[in-house]
Amino acid sequence: MGLDLESKKILLRKIPHGLFICGVREGDEINGFTASWVTQGSFEPPLIVMAVRSEGSSHGIIQRTKLFSLNFLRSDQKDLAATFFKPQSALGGRFEAAPFKYGEYGLPIIEDCIGGVECSVIGKVVHGDHSVFVGEVKSSYLHQDCDALNLASTGWTYGG
Ligand SMILES: Cc1cc2nc3c(=O)[nH]c(=O)nc-3n(C[C@H](O)[C@H](O)[C@H](O)COP(=O)(O)O)c2cc1C
Repeated sequence: MGLDLESKKILLRKIPHGLFICGVREGDEINGFTASWVTQGSFEPPLIVMAVRSEGSSHGIIQRTKLFSLNFLRSDQKDLAATFFKPQSALGGRFEAAPFKYGEYGLPIIEDCIGGVECSVIGKVVHGDHSVFVGEVKSSYLHQDCDALNLASTGWTYGG
């Protein structure tokens, strides 16, 4: 029997997800995109696992620089999440909506959000239409400890 695509879609969409802004930088160029396929992968060392669309602009930057930041959005920041998945006129333009500072590793940490971490890529799994990057958390900046945005609350879907 082949894979039942409809039940596969319904079931995979039950996996709970947060919503984050992943930041990347290569030289003077920065970019950021909304990411939901993110989870913790180890306590020690602290690892984050994130799947990144192979055809996106940020994918190559992560592959080449082996660095990314992850910004944690508050539950009231749905609009900002939308800004970071819509097409942009120029790479990095989305950050006009989100003032940021550079972290210790040179990656964008959004100022008005829960906080952000910078990760160094220590592994990757390249199959299918997304690559899975394993990043070790190297720096952490907490601005305010409050409820985080999650995918279910937005009514959007990414998955299935
Ligand atoms: C709700 C939602 C969740 C998303 N999650 C991811 C994700 O986990 N990984 C990913 O690569 N793209 C994800 N995307 C798509 C990217 O945000 C989108 O393709 C973005 O334009 C990529 O930007 P870039 O090409 O500038 O890197 C998601 C989109 C939406 C609407």
